[in-house]
Amino acid sequence: MNSVTVDLGARSYDIVIGEDLLAQAGSLIGPHLKAKRVAVVTDENVYALHGKTLEAALSAYETHMIVRPAGESQKSFDGLQAVLEALFKAGFDRNDTVIAFGGGVIGDLTGFAASTYKRGCQFIQIPTTLLSQVDSSVGGKTAINNEFGKNLIGAFYQPALVLADTSVLKTLPEREVKAGYAEVVKYGLLGDREFFDWLDTNGEDVLSLKPEAIAHAVAVSCKTKARIVAADERERGERALLNLGHTFAHALEIEAGYSGDLLHGEAVSAGMEMAFEFSAVQGLCSETDVKKVKSHFKQLGLTSIKDVAPLLKDAHKILSHMDQDKKNEGGALTLILARAIGEAFVQKSAPRDAVLNYLVHLSETLNA
Ligand code: GLY
Repeated sequence: MNSVTVDLGARSYDIVIGEDLLAQAGSLIGPHLKAKRVAVVTDENVYALHGKTLEAALSAYETHMIVRPAGESQKSFDGLQAVLEALFKAGFDRNDTVIAFGGGVIGDLTGFAASTYKRGCQFIQIPTTLLSQVDSSVGGKTAINNEFGKNLIGAFYQPALVLADTSVLKTLPEREVKAGYAEVVKYGLLGDREFFDWLDTNGEDVLSLKPEAIAHAVAVSCKTKARIVAADERERGERALLNLGHTFAHALEIEAGYSGDLLHGEAVSAGMEMAFEFSAVQGLCSETDVKKVKSHFKQLGLTSIKDVAPLLKDAHKILSHMDQDKKNEGGALTLILARAIGEAFVQKSAPRDAVLNYLVHLSETLNA
């Protein structure tokens, strides 16, 4: 068992990483509870696979299971209302604890519900996907979507504890593991060349969930995220680095209609290739590093730019999607670019013409 602290003063919390933590959830969570009543918000898939194990582990507490349908559509006003109503019906008060037990959708929805329920009750994250263990469960970003876009209604609301049980990942489809891996390799690409090199050697072991490799990958990712969040909780500066590849990725996701055809992590790996390629076009980063990134992704079978070619047909449309990004200020594009592997930086007022030229060139060469 490994523990990483997110240092946020009075709101500091631990991320506990290890195998078979679900079965120990009662004793791990116990010291954090103010009252002996908990609500577990989960989805039907996670409940079917792991619900009974968690229920048994929490048997010392009055436990209410709130089981929602799986899928992004739960990150909505309807999904939020359903969770809040279940808490009201169970008579929850602010001393009770809400546990998010699932992937990013459940974590974001539950965290936002906890932040608004009676102006805020305690919540704990038990992420069950690789992506949520290394990214979305840590750092307090919570949100729902609306017709204007993803994550546009939300709050920064930190959990009291994160339990990342790496054994649970064994029930994930391979495609989900690869999508989560994109967020793991992101930490190497944005600021840790040594970690990237380690992944270049050990990536297959991470993807096949070899215990030591996955434990190391999750721990390094969480340590990096914890350090960045502690330095810049509200994303005024450095935290934006965690969005490496995401501005391109969000545009791809909009083009794909947020369908199951393109998972967030798949869009992120293609988006990170684009961020590196564009950095090279701008003369910021060497072609050698772009090739290294692409060959690592290819070796592990991650989604590449070529795989999303049909989504890149209309360069103007992609750019207009990028214009909607939350990081943009005063109508100017903000991009996370790289000077090298492990040296990403925030580029405010990125040159729109150059971005458009790059996208046009990409569309012409890919769809020729
Ligand atoms: N997923 C990006 C962040 O937490 O800031």
